[in-house]
Amino acid sequence: MSSEPSAVQTPNAFTPRIFSGIQPSGGLTLGNYLGALKRFVEKQDEGIETIYCMVDMHAITTWQDPEKLRHQTREGAAAFIAAGIDPARSILFNQSQVPAHAELGWIFNCVARLGWMNRMTQFKDKTAGKNAEAASLGLYAYPSLMAADILVYHATMVPVGEDQKQHLELTRDIAIKFNNDYGVNFFPVVEPLIEGAATRVMSLRDGTKKMSKSDPSDQSRINLTDSADQIAAKIRKAKTDAEPLPDTLDGLRDRPEARNLVNIYAALSGQTAAEVIAENAGAQFGTFKPRLADLAVAKLSPITDRMNRLMQDPAEIDRILGDGADRADSLARPILDRTKDIVGMIRSRRM
Ligand code: AMP
Ligand code: TRP
Repeated sequence: MSSEPSAVQTPNAFTPRIFSGIQPSGGLTLGNYLGALKRFVEKQDEGIETIYCMVDMHAITTWQDPEKLRHQTREGAAAFIAAGIDPARSILFNQSQVPAHAELGWIFNCVARLGWMNRMTQFKDKTAGKNAEAASLGLYAYPSLMAADILVYHATMVPVGEDQKQHLELTRDIAIKFNNDYGVNFFPVVEPLIEGAATRVMSLRDGTKKMSKSDPSDQSRINLTDSADQIAAKIRKAKTDAEPLPDTLDGLRDRPEARNLVNIYAALSGQTAAEVIAENAGAQFGTFKPRLADLAVAKLSPITDRMNRLMQDPAEIDRILGDGADRADSLARPILDRTKDIVGMIRSRRM
C-alpha cells in the first residue's frame, strides 16, 4: 500500500489561493468589471496567490464564431491587464491551454449526480423558451467543468458575481462527495467571495434582468470597449422611474432601476450605497445621471484606452497567455496526478 495515496490534508492545511474565470463569449461588460474584474485586482493586490482564466471551453458550450472567440479571448485578457492584473503577480491564461481542466472535468462528471445538474438554474435560464433537447451536452455539464477549473488548483476562494453562487455550491458538493467516496480529504471546500456594492449589476433597460454580454440589446449594457460618448448616452437613456432619489436605502426597495444606478455609482466610487444615497438624497435623475456618467467615464475610459493599446499587439497577449498556461499547468499537473492515484488510474510516469 505504500505507493498508494493516503488522506493527508486537513481542510485548513490548504494554502489560501484564489481562482476565477470569465467566458470569452462576448465583450466584457460593466457587470463583469464591477462583479468580477475589479475585485480580482483587489485580491491580487492583497497579496493572495491569484489565478485568472479566460474559460474558452465554457464559451463553446454555445456555438462561437471561431475568429470572434479568438479575438474575445485576447480582448478579455487585455481587459484583465488594463484593469490592473499584473501577469507577473497573477497567473493569467486561457483554459484550453491547460488540459488538466478537461481531465479533472471528466472525473467530476462521474462524481456529480444528474439530480444535482437538473437543479442548475443557469441551464434552465439559458434554455428557457428554447428547445432544451437541442442544447449541447457541454452546456449541461458546464458546472462540473467549473468545479474542475477551481479544484484542479486546490483553490480555496472564488470571487464571482451573485449569479455564480449556485455553481459554487455545486463545486462544494463535488469536493465533499469526492472526498467521501474515496475516503480522502483531498479537495478543499471552496468559499465563494460575493462581496461589494455590485454583485449583481442589472440591465439598463430592465432593472429585473442581469446586465449581460449576451443580451440582444446593446443599450442594456455598458461594454468595456464603449467610448466615453457611448457610455454617457447609455446612462442618459437608462430606464428609471419618475421619482427623485430617496433619502434612505429603504426607499429604493421597490425601485429596481434606481437601485441599480445607485449600486453602480457606489461600486465605481468605492462608497456604500447608503453613502451614495446620503449624498444624493432628493436628486432628480436629470442631475444624478450626469454625475454617474462622469464617474463611469472617469473610471472606465483609462481601462478602455489601455485595452485598445494592448490589442494592437496580439502576439504579446498570446505570449502572456502561454506563459500563464505553463505556470498554471505546473500547479495543476501534480494535483491531477494525485487525483488519478486516488481514483485508481494507472498514470504515465513518463517525464
Ligand atoms: P461571465 O461573463 O458569465 O463569464 O461572468 C464572469 C464573471 O462576471 C462572473 O463572476 C459573474 O458572476 C460576473 N458577472 C457577470 N455579469 C455580471 C453582472 N451583471 N453583475 C455582477 N457580476 C457579473
Ligand atoms: N461560470 C462562470 C460564469 O459564467 C465562469 C467560470 C468558469 C468560472 N469557470 C469558473 C468562474 C471558475 C469562477 C471559477 O461567470
